[in-house]
Amino acid sequence: MRLILLGPPGAGKGTQAKTLSVKLAVPHISTGDMLRQAVADGTKLGLEAKSFMDRGALVPDEVVIGIIEERLHKPDCARGYILDGFPRTLPQAEALSRALTTLGASMDKVLSVEVPEDDLVKRLTGRRVCRGCGYMYHVDTNPPKQVGSCDKCHGVLYQRDDDKEETIRHRLRVYREQTHPLIAYYDKMRLLRHIDGRGTIEEIARRVHQALGQG
Ligand code: AP5
Repeated sequence: MRLILLGPPGAGKGTQAKTLSVKLAVPHISTGDMLRQAVADGTKLGLEAKSFMDRGALVPDEVVIGIIEERLHKPDCARGYILDGFPRTLPQAEALSRALTTLGASMDKVLSVEVPEDDLVKRLTGRRVCRGCGYMYHVDTNPPKQVGSCDKCHGVLYQRDDDKEETIRHRLRVYREQTHPLIAYYDKMRLLRHIDGRGTIEEIARRVHQALGQG
């Protein structure tokens, strides 16, 4: 299955994509994770991306499109994938459509995960991520058993640089201006399903499975 998870920062795309990827046995492809890895590795791509990411701006289309085109040609994508955080602009969506045509493939569904803006800010300011395995916690709604340590691998938990309130507000503006128009784009292609992103992680997972006809 080929799937796009669309939604504002903090909507729970990454949280849902991680479990869904195991359930569907397809890779979870997050451009945010790939870019953060490049920053951590100190590569040329990472150095270029960092200044955009730190201020909550989008990395230029041609850079992100290049990364995704390369990734979709890897053998593990043959049975499908979950795209999380891509596409984020109309040129990215159009490039994805062209890449799929070249590969002789098509998108199955686009899930738009929708959450009120005040909740998004609370989710993001409280997010903590494991440096070891990438598992996500929230200081109030999904805390680790021991403060600062991952339940799964005992890795150190950290707060993302772009999860400061001012940067979050900017990311939300960028989402409204540049990414929200993709909802109409995919609706027109009859691929869009709306998901109410409020409630517990398990409730949302059930809605996702239902939208995919698996619930
Ligand atoms: P990216 O990493 O993609 O960030 P994002 O889209 O802003 O999304 P987030 O990861 O912040 O949120 P999420 O929806 O995945 O929520 P999560 O599951 O973590 O991108 C970062 C940056 O990289 C961008 O700003 C840009 O600079 C660059 N970039 C990436 N892709 C790009 C592209 N295509 N083009 C250009 N630039 C690009 O959940 C958030 C928190 O809420 C967690 O703490 C979680 O535990 C908690 N939570 C989840 N679900 C629930 C729930 N149901 N109830 C309560 N809490 C919950």
